[in-house]
Amino acid sequence: MAIRDIVLYPDAPLKQKAESYDVFDGEVAALAADMFETMAEFDGCGLAGPQVGVAKRIVVLRDPAEGKEMCLINPEILEGDGEEVGEEGCLSLPAVFAEVPRKTRIRLRALDEHGEPLEFEATGMLARIIQHETDHLDGKMFIDRLDVLTHEAKMQEWLEVRRQLRPNEGVA
Ligand code: NI
Repeated sequence: MAIRDIVLYPDAPLKQKAESYDVFDGEVAALAADMFETMAEFDGCGLAGPQVGVAKRIVVLRDPAEGKEMCLINPEILEGDGEEVGEEGCLSLPAVFAEVPRKTRIRLRALDEHGEPLEFEATGMLARIIQHETDHLDGKMFIDRLDVLTHEAKMQEWLEVRRQLRPNEGVA
């Protein structure tokens, strides 16, 4: 197991659509183990493949209510309803937080890291985390869910944070 580096927005492959898994070998489970370790190290509640530089449809998360950890491969939100606004942050946009609208209840289908099928319903914070992480697999960040003006304000905030985190970076 190893702690992986976190990709910062807008670096590749965060903005691209991640690829599905069709083969389950030890590599998937090994990546999942690294991602669980990385999530714990950075105190996150979810982490998606693109955030560790892997453009594949894999997510790990920790259910904040039960403390249970799960890995979701090729997750698909089958249906959802309700809308609720709540605060989100992201390890790829550290120190930036915003109120993001999400579905209150979702039904999800996925595989676990060994290729076993899962189907379940999630509500509240767990539903929010799953929606945030599956968005990453489609190249979307939580700030992309905000209205135009708030998005712009959060981008300015982030550029300032990034300048402090990476002072030696050239201006693109
Ligand atoms: Ni995120």
